[in-house]
Amino acid sequence: MTGPEADELTVGDEVDVEVGPIAHGGHCVARHEGRVLFVRHTLPGERVRARITEGGPGDRFLRADAVEVLTASPDRVPVRCPVAGPGRCGGCDFQHVSTEHQRRLKADVVAEQLQRLAGIEREVLVEPLDDEDGLRYRTRVEFAVVDGRVGLRRHRSHEVVPVTGCPIAVPEIDEALVETLADVERTRGELDGISALDIVVPSAEADTVVVEVPTEEPTPPIAITERVATPAGERVLGVDARGFWQVHRDAPRAFVGAVLAAADVRPGERVLDLYSGVGLLSVPLAEAVGPDGQLIAVESDRRATEHLRDNLAATPQALVVCGRVDDLFGVPRRGRRRGPRRPARSDLLPPSADVVVLDPPRTGAGRGVVEALTSLRPRRLVYVACDPAALARDTGYLTGLGYDLTGLRALDAFPMTHHVECVATFEPKGEDARP
Ligand SMILES: C[S@@+](CC[C@H](N)C(=O)[O-])C[C@H]1O[C@@H](n2cnc3c(N)ncnc32)[C@H](O)[C@@H]1O
Repeated sequence: MTGPEADELTVGDEVDVEVGPIAHGGHCVARHEGRVLFVRHTLPGERVRARITEGGPGDRFLRADAVEVLTASPDRVPVRCPVAGPGRCGGCDFQHVSTEHQRRLKADVVAEQLQRLAGIEREVLVEPLDDEDGLRYRTRVEFAVVDGRVGLRRHRSHEVVPVTGCPIAVPEIDEALVETLADVERTRGELDGISALDIVVPSAEADTVVVEVPTEEPTPPIAITERVATPAGERVLGVDARGFWQVHRDAPRAFVGAVLAAADVRPGERVLDLYSGVGLLSVPLAEAVGPDGQLIAVESDRRATEHLRDNLAATPQALVVCGRVDDLFGVPRRGRRRGPRRPARSDLLPPSADVVVLDPPRTGAGRGVVEALTSLRPRRLVYVACDPAALARDTGYLTGLGYDLTGLRALDAFPMTHHVECVATFEPKGEDARP
């Protein structure tokens, strides 16, 4: 196919390209006459017709979608969702890949990020959370409402693709969506003033919760309960229906197990659980330090902190601090100009800790927070990461500050998408190690 000159390529143009390796973000890298294209819905080794979706002359790279597969990869499979694919729902970008190969691609991304950003060569294995087909696992889905239409957002767009279900959601979510849509139809009810339907299936309750998210004002609090197995028994934790909770039905069990094994907490120790949410990890960590130890959980969201306090009420060795981790450590916020004075370090934080667990949002912890954490001289630091690039960046800071990456597990908590969760363990290098 002859097409436009590479430097003139713009949105809507199509070019045939050989597809190169997977990159962070779920797309593959291809080149057209030297210009870099990040192409979605394809696989390394394929030849595809790629339609430019973003970028134009003068841009460093272009985004594109594989609208036709000219030579297919052996790992390509038929999509398992009617709205997956180029120009459709932006949610599942790996529907066209076998689940086993999805995990290999994610492993390649984690390994590549660690190599590029932290200079660490490491083989990575992404573990499935269950042995099923990567479908029907999400216990939370937010359906957008736009101009009275209910659906899922297109990739990097505010437009919605109308749907009546989602194959990666647990069946109760599809049932609740269909019932809600039928109610709206039957009662001629309006969806005016509603920007989303957030459907949640709490593990400790019989009923599915449908939250109508108002367009103009904050959603009122809706408390729900989630069941978690910890080594000390089964716990029921309170959380807000729209608050942070792991979406995969098996993730709470898997993450608690992975973090406890990595942290290897001993009774009597002092442990920090930073970015703690409602305490999925704080509760088992508080149990592990026992009555003679101390667990300090730090979370910035006020509603989450209220649940966190309740969830930790049975473990008096736990202290809850509501605030931003960077502010509390006296680290200037990223992206803000430094004022004349550094913020003061909070007295609520201890001068040292045996173990630090952190589970920051997608942006990671950042150099300032990492420096503050290493100054606590923990014997172990367990980093739960939902973004391999942020993990790799922070790993680079940690290794520069005397810590080695001594363990890494990658868990497939988001099948059918490029997302992957990592649990990384860091320990002081050689002679720095404390007894
Ligand atoms: C990825 S979630 C982890 C929650 C918890 N570990 C879990 O697995 O349920 C990150 C949490 O960090 C909180 N958060 C975000 N930025 C923060 C900050 N700068 N300081 C403290 N908490 C923050 C969010 O409100 C959210 O609850």
